[in-house]
Amino acid sequence: MNLTLKIWRQKDANDKGKMVEYKVTEISEHMSFLEMMDVLNEQLIAQGEEPVAFDHDCREGICGMCSMYINGEAHGPDRGITTCQLHMRMFKDGDTIFIEPWRAKAFPVIKDLVVDRSAFDRIQHAGGYVSVNTSGNTQDANALPINKDNADKAFDAATCIGCGACVATCKNSSAMLFVGAKVSQYALLPQGQVEAVDRVKNMVAQMDLEGFGNCTNTGACEIECPKGISLENIARMNSEFLKASLKG
Ligand code: SF4
Ligand code: FES
Repeated sequence: MNLTLKIWRQKDANDKGKMVEYKVTEISEHMSFLEMMDVLNEQLIAQGEEPVAFDHDCREGICGMCSMYINGEAHGPDRGITTCQLHMRMFKDGDTIFIEPWRAKAFPVIKDLVVDRSAFDRIQHAGGYVSVNTSGNTQDANALPINKDNADKAFDAATCIGCGACVATCKNSSAMLFVGAKVSQYALLPQGQVEAVDRVKNMVAQMDLEGFGNCTNTGACEIECPKGISLENIARMNSEFLKASLKG
């Protein structure tokens, strides 16, 4: 198929940026969206032009790097997938595709489609971990019996890959689905209880400090999340935060 691409080009964080039109031809419907972008970049390199910068790593839906806004949707028109899992069969010959970076104050554009998502790392550093005594007397995690329902919910929350589609989709650029998932994966397990109060308070404080917006229960984040992270995790984070605040 032959396609017209309108892509956001921005030299660096200080550049104003603009949409630039490109044509690609003979794109197979079996290609992934990133493979189609590779075809474009090979074409640009052959013409002596700067290739389009975009983030990617695993190319199998695990790393969460391939952030792209495609035709106005985070990760494009399919559901439950990342951009690297999006196939060109979702488009038709002659289509025009608009490709933009995530738009959020807390995710500044570095170059073209690449944004700085280190705000998520700083939120994780603020409390998204369990401290373990590694003196040699560490208890085997499997020695603690865990209710099956809680184990399943904790696992579901832990499947969040930190891609940022929830933030990019939210009209408020809220990071509450991401933070809700990261709080929930520990809140439901006995191992997470020791640091529970500090964890939720510190992660929420860091989230606010980074400039993410608030949740107004629109639910767009849940729809666009490639891992199907449920809004239930935001409710759990709010209740954990309330409990932690009452404990002082
Ligand atoms: S909650 Fe979903 S959309 Fe948000 S960062 Fe995690 S995987 Fe991505
Ligand atoms: S490149 Fe890793 S999730 Fe897409």
